[in-house]
Amino acid sequence: MIKRLRQYWKNRTTRRRFLLGTAGGGMAAMGAGYAYMRLWESGWLEVNRREVKLDQPHALETPIKILHLSDLHASKVVSLAYLRRALKMGLDLQPDLICVTGDFITWKYKRYAEYAEVLSQLSAAAPTFACLGNHDGGSWAEGKMKLGNGDSAEVRELLTAAKIKLLHNEHTTATINGSEINLVGVGDLWNHECEPETAFDGIDTTHPTLLLSHNPDTKDQLAAFPWQLMLSGHTHGGQLYLPGLGAPLAPVKNKKFVRGLHRIDDRWLHISKGVGNLHGVRFNCRPEVTLLTVA
Ligand SMILES: [Fe+2]
Repeated sequence: MIKRLRQYWKNRTTRRRFLLGTAGGGMAAMGAGYAYMRLWESGWLEVNRREVKLDQPHALETPIKILHLSDLHASKVVSLAYLRRALKMGLDLQPDLICVTGDFITWKYKRYAEYAEVLSQLSAAAPTFACLGNHDGGSWAEGKMKLGNGDSAEVRELLTAAKIKLLHNEHTTATINGSEINLVGVGDLWNHECEPETAFDGIDTTHPTLLLSHNPDTKDQLAAFPWQLMLSGHTHGGQLYLPGLGAPLAPVKNKKFVRGLHRIDDRWLHISKGVGNLHGVRFNCRPEVTLLTVA
């Protein structure tokens, strides 16, 4: 009897040690995974170069190099020092034109003066245009997040201070490398500010047209309008990109369009994975600056 009790106790102790060891190993692995996502991959910038060949009659004789940046998300987890480094990586590519497709901040932000000084590096190097994202202020930020960020006044002032031209449901024409191109920007979908009728009103369709729209889900709403290349962000490439599953957390209805360059009929859509992030983590989804060579 005593022998059986000793054996029982011995087995139980071994099982407990095994379970504790397994749990400890699991916790350590989770901790290491989180540290990787938080401390390493979220700041592991990559440079991507992509070629865009426009169809006739909008093909360009002299190619233009467009630096596409998106979702900078200045915040407690995305520092200005990191953003300065990202912008320098982009500017080292010597772009002819720079487009930033929204989400300059996360929820709310305070250090606007220093941020404007960082962003002004862009406009000092090349003509720089932007559209707003859902975090930059509007009904989504006000209502959904209840953060009192009801309008985009602060981000608009930031862009003005940085000499970045905001295109909010409007268009302009710029001469880049000798070619006249239209630049159109629409307001954010989630903020219910996407008004393409206003943005495209009176546009000269003989010029190639570049469209800035934060959320790629707008591509269907915008399909009826005359553009050749649309630049978007918003998805952060999924931020967590899981083997076999892709980007289940990407905040778009159409999960096929979360990153990269896509050909849609006779047009192009480029979706940036973004420079910053939310919550400080990325997995299998490095932040990017992208140089599009458009011809
Ligand atoms: Fe974003």
